[in-house]
Amino acid sequence: MSMGATAQSDYWVKWIVTSGFRKRRVDFMQSRRALHPDASRPSRSPPADRRRHESTDTNLKDKHSRMAAYLEIADDSKGHELSLFCVPKHYEEDLDSVIIPNGLIKDRTERLARDIVRDMGGHHIVALCVLKGGYKFFADLMDYIKTLNRNIDKSVPLTVDFIRLKSYSNDQSTNCVKVIGGDELSALTGKNVLIVEDIVETGRTMETLLKLLNECHPKMVKVVSLLVKRTPRSSGYRPDYIGFEVPDKFLVGYALDYNEYFRDLSHICILSDSAKEKYKV
Ligand code: IMP
Ligand code: MG
Repeated sequence: MSMGATAQSDYWVKWIVTSGFRKRRVDFMQSRRALHPDASRPSRSPPADRRRHESTDTNLKDKHSRMAAYLEIADDSKGHELSLFCVPKHYEEDLDSVIIPNGLIKDRTERLARDIVRDMGGHHIVALCVLKGGYKFFADLMDYIKTLNRNIDKSVPLTVDFIRLKSYSNDQSTNCVKVIGGDELSALTGKNVLIVEDIVETGRTMETLLKLLNECHPKMVKVVSLLVKRTPRSSGYRPDYIGFEVPDKFLVGYALDYNEYFRDLSHICILSDSAKEKYKV
């Protein structure tokens, strides 16, 4: 169908106006990009510590599984001033700041419990606590799973096992990961196992444990770690569930220790350099 004279001139007027506008907009964007290379694509992301991340999970066995979401504590986060929180008197001089308050740990743990029950619900789970650092996280996570079990239709029968590993000396992860106690891993043959760990740094401890466990042929293994450290020393290993991703600093509290000290601290804190010297072995 052909256009009438008026319709045709209207069409060309519109074309000239919009293409002129488009050109001016392109010119504007080009000059803006030249002036502010970082500002050329305005970010729609929320602030870093509220961002919900997709990790670069390397679990190649299950490419279709959901990647672990986590709460990021930014590298430049100074944490919170100690005097704003209740910290044992005997540690006041040893800590730089509170990086994750106990309440926030609990809130995030509650959500991890929900995600785990959603994914593993309907099966019997054996929760394997990695001692000693994982005991507080383990106890709280189990309590949240038990609360869910009392209140949902698809409840999860839960039993618990413990393993004690050692890989750290002072503030350094060593190459040698040793099993120094706990239940026999052979009891986990054919079971759905949830490994509960405090912190993944290089990933060596977890890779070693997974290798040992796989020799016992469990039916399924998932790993939940409260913390993952952002560090160039990482092997690239990522757990299935992650509470927080934290800066490359030595952290203590909520059962994380430095040569057995600081497990009796409720918040996760940054250890000071002077304390590293003071409690050195
Ligand atoms: P990875 O083998 O290097 O991944 O280290 C894992 C283990 O080292 C954890 O289970 C902790 O016991 C310990 N670890 C790593 N980083 C820290 C930290 O910042 N504070 C306390 N313990 C840590
Ligand atoms: Mg540990």
